[in-house]
Amino acid sequence: MTGPHTLAVERLPLADLRLVRTLRLRALRDAPSAFAETEADALTQPDDYWLRLATSMTGSAPNAMLVARLGEDVVGSCYALVDGNDPDVGRIGGMWVDSKHRRHGVGRALVDAVRRWTERPPRTCLRLWVPVDASEARAFYAAAGFVSTNRERPFPSDPTRSIVEMELSLTTRW
Ligand SMILES: CC(C)(COP(=O)(O)OP(=O)(O)OC[C@H]1O[C@@H](n2cnc3c(N)ncnc32)[C@H](O)[C@@H]1OP(=O)(O)O)[C@@H](O)C(=O)NCCC(=O)NCCS
Repeated sequence: MTGPHTLAVERLPLADLRLVRTLRLRALRDAPSAFAETEADALTQPDDYWLRLATSMTGSAPNAMLVARLGEDVVGSCYALVDGNDPDVGRIGGMWVDSKHRRHGVGRALVDAVRRWTERPPRTCLRLWVPVDASEARAFYAAAGFVSTNRERPFPSDPTRSIVEMELSLTTRW
């Protein structure tokens, strides 16, 4: 990592709706083709929406929001989620690193933090959906050990595009 500050990844401790909203809007503006939601959609959401999102990932919630900081600056974030159909499966959502800080290991540190989150309680694998045309994101996940499950779906906000599922087996603990 370049610069004077050390990279730190932490679970968002409090249901901070302002930070959750700010980070989501930054991600949607910075990487508009990576996510199903658009910045315009997100801007119309009421405070209650952000409070519910923040509450679902903090305190005693099983999900987590992981935030990467360089000093005081947040440079990336992602969600670590329990799969809605299989509680043994963890999911990554909303993975984003500020474009000014890419290729310095921030994304890798976020994935490592999600892997630590999968240890308590232990999950069998981590899965995520990534746009098929997002070759950089797919290369990033492949570098972290994820492989395609070959399950594809239309991109929720643009049926001319597709998303593909990738998976990391966790049965061999690291
Ligand atoms: C994908 C993303 C999270 C990667 O974050 P990052 O901090 O730049 O990634 P890292 O620096 O930790 O990269 C780790 C490894 O992944 C691979 N990788 C990362 N970015 C890559 C790219 N653009 N092209 C090819 N490989 C890449 C490399 O092997 C890299 O190791 P190296 O730099 O030593 O070669 C970031 O590019 C991003 O936020 N993109 C926009 C949002 C997005 O697409 N999110 C995913 C939605 S599913």
